[in-house]
Amino acid sequence: MKFFVDTAEIDQIKELNDLGMVDGVTTNPSLIAKSGRDILEVTKEICSIVTGPVSAEVVALDAETMLAEGRKLAKIADNIAVKVPLTWAGLKTCKTLSDDGIMVNVTLCFSANQALLAAKAGATFISPFIGRLDDLNMDGLELIEDIRTIYDNYGFETNILAASIRSANHMSECAKIGADVATAPPSVIKAMANHVLTDKGLDGFMADVAKAGIKIL
Ligand code: E4P
Repeated sequence: MKFFVDTAEIDQIKELNDLGMVDGVTTNPSLIAKSGRDILEVTKEICSIVTGPVSAEVVALDAETMLAEGRKLAKIADNIAVKVPLTWAGLKTCKTLSDDGIMVNVTLCFSANQALLAAKAGATFISPFIGRLDDLNMDGLELIEDIRTIYDNYGFETNILAASIRSANHMSECAKIGADVATAPPSVIKAMANHVLTDKGLDGFMADVAKAGIKIL
């Protein structure tokens, strides 16, 4: 499973990228607003750091303006994936940009039917939002499973990009289901390293290091 990092914070992207943990980046208007930076500027900087796909989202709601925005975003760098919302206008934009050879990430997906439409429209990525479904006592992981089954039934090449990930557990569950990509905030990717028994084991080793005066350097 590929790891995308869900942030527009340059320092955090660099830190994880240096460790080989970043196969791509996703942003959205809220993350861009949080960064306090100009969308074109910050996206260009991200694309200069990361070689994999960098999702940059349109902000218009009608297909014509979305298409113009998408074309402008795509000019930033070769690794841009234009992110469009899962609306009828977004699907129209997806089809046109995909036909032009531009990567498209269809976002705000909350149902298997929506994912089916995105695949038909030629999306490179479909972004089902797990956490936001879980917030409503619905089952976000079940949606990932359903989309995996449907795409495999018909050989759709659209990549399942599990999004709105809130916990390290979400990451391993997505990998078990067979999501192609999971995008998560840096804090979640780092939390994947944590285990209470690792901490406990290390405490025990360090106590013995101190007792025996073990030195290596
Ligand atoms: C993904 O592309 C989205 O930007 C993101 O995962 C949304 O996450 P949230 O539901 O935590 O805002």
